[in-house]
Amino acid sequence: MRVLITGGAGFIGSHIVDLLLAAGEEVRVLDALLPDAHRRQPEIDDRAHLLIGDVRDADQVRAALAGVDAVCHQAAMVGMGVDLTDLPAYVSHNDLGTAVLLAEMARAGTPRLVLASSMVVYGEGAYRCAVDGPVRPARRLEADLAAGLFEPRCPACRRPLEPCPVTEDAPLDPRSVYAATKLAQENLSAAWAAASGGSVIALRYHNAYGPRMPKNTPYAGVASIFRSALERGESPAVFEDGGQLRDFVHVTDIARANGLALKWPDAEPGRLNAFNIGSGRAHTIGDMADALARAHGGPEPTTTGRYRPGDVRHVFASSARAGETLGYHAAVTFDKGMVDFAGAPLRS
Ligand code: UD1
Repeated sequence: MRVLITGGAGFIGSHIVDLLLAAGEEVRVLDALLPDAHRRQPEIDDRAHLLIGDVRDADQVRAALAGVDAVCHQAAMVGMGVDLTDLPAYVSHNDLGTAVLLAEMARAGTPRLVLASSMVVYGEGAYRCAVDGPVRPARRLEADLAAGLFEPRCPACRRPLEPCPVTEDAPLDPRSVYAATKLAQENLSAAWAAASGGSVIALRYHNAYGPRMPKNTPYAGVASIFRSALERGESPAVFEDGGQLRDFVHVTDIARANGLALKWPDAEPGRLNAFNIGSGRAHTIGDMADALARAHGGPEPTTTGRYRPGDVRHVFASSARAGETLGYHAAVTFDKGMVDFAGAPLRS
């Protein structure tokens, strides 16, 4: 199989390159080597054919697609960004980039796309009220957050809610620019599939961590922020009360999910198939900070009570669908993954 991996020099993409090469596949990489993600030249396995180019450039994409059986689309701007002045750049890289890629895939007749999506498309995770059953909580009020009231409440009876694993049929409710661009990528890909008869497998990654995660930048997830703080000899600063639940999934498990999706024999043509890709276990941000700090040999985390107004409280995965359908099961446990991550080099 000949696979084009966009963003194949990046954190997740580079692990997919390694996995596919080890499986004997032919790998082509298209990566713009954006300076925000690559402050120095990345090391890419010589066996991968690296094309330095931008997914927004139709000519470069056309050349990269020649003779390709499937595309694994990882190239994107991720994370929170600096502020709203980042908005055009997110839309340009993520959505215009995907549009150019899909147009060229249609022209070339490339039949399969595996898309790096994200759990951020859900916004808040799933919740159940003891009285009112499954509910969608209202957005958290700034006044509540400032008063240290972090848990969302039932919109009907105001009782505290029980967080539950989110499934792929949950309502989609993007809360940030990044999240909006990820959902737009899914929607554009679904439209491409319907019109071209191709198939899309959208993998909604939960909180990725592992070797080669980029160092602390405005675009980094919490695992990298904590790991970078520890490396500087500083305490990880835990926001809220540290009780936020997330599903931390090791980057090599995410790579394996991509490998399975690329080869999935039952992918239905003409539609988008979405899968949560998590570890199947939820952990609080406080527990993650503790585990990482312990494995690093300190310093201990500090719970700050600070908060970011756009943050959701709890979101963690049911990866049951990926298990039953793709045969995906996370292999790296939280305990082992965090110990390894505490000593793994970050990318600078
Ligand atoms: C994250 C990523 C997103 C990624 C997704 C799935 C954002 C901002 N980040 O979403 O790019 O696609 O996971 O992999 O979208 N926190 C702290 N201290 C800090 C920073 C964060 O306690 O210094 C807390 C936050 O308040 C939040 C949690 O850690 O409760 C997770 O933060 P983060 O990783 O940034 O965002 P996610 O919403 O999980």
